[in-house]
Amino acid sequence: MNRLNITKGDIVKMKTDAIVNAANTSLLGGGGVDGAIHKAAGAMLLEECKKFNGCPTGEARITSGYKLNAKYVIHTPGPIWRGGNKGEPELLANCYKNSLSLAYENGIRSIAFPSISTGVYRFPVDLASKIALNEISKFLSDHPDFEKIVIVCFDEITYKTYKNTLKAMEMK
Ligand code: APR
Repeated sequence: MNRLNITKGDIVKMKTDAIVNAANTSLLGGGGVDGAIHKAAGAMLLEECKKFNGCPTGEARITSGYKLNAKYVIHTPGPIWRGGNKGEPELLANCYKNSLSLAYENGIRSIAFPSISTGVYRFPVDLASKIALNEISKFLSDHPDFEKIVIVCFDEITYKTYKNTLKAMEMK
């Protein structure tokens, strides 16, 4: 699984073909990683996002990366945690599935993800990491020509959680 990497840092610095934005359904920017990506990409990113008239939770939309190192940004609104019985796990899985298939369709072969929904949207990191890594490993085994997927964690707890989840998966 050396095509899958977990790192700690700022996703706007990544040099992958694409980076994924943990957006909201308006696609008009916000705080957290959404705010950081829009700030680094510049105002043109928001202009392009406006053409979508929003995006439903779990779906994905692709734009240029503008001033970012990454050529593309894939925007996906994650689910807001409401206790776990309102379809949140499936919706989060869809964020990864739809972002990866949209990337692949656009010729993207390396991509960086943030930990979607585990900030403002309060999705528990442990469960989110299991969902994320499960979808990513399924995608990588179905797409041997995909080169690299990086999960960029912004803090130590998130980083450790993803590392532990990956280790547990590899032991199976
Ligand atoms: N690089 C990588 N990860 C980051 C960065 C960054 N520059 N900034 C924040 N993060 C991390 C957070 O620490 C968290 O682990 O991204 C993860 C997701 O947190 P949020 O950005 O709050 O995203 P989310 O929980 O999906 O909530 C989305 O927040 O910013 C608004 O407009 C956004 O309304 C939407 C909501």
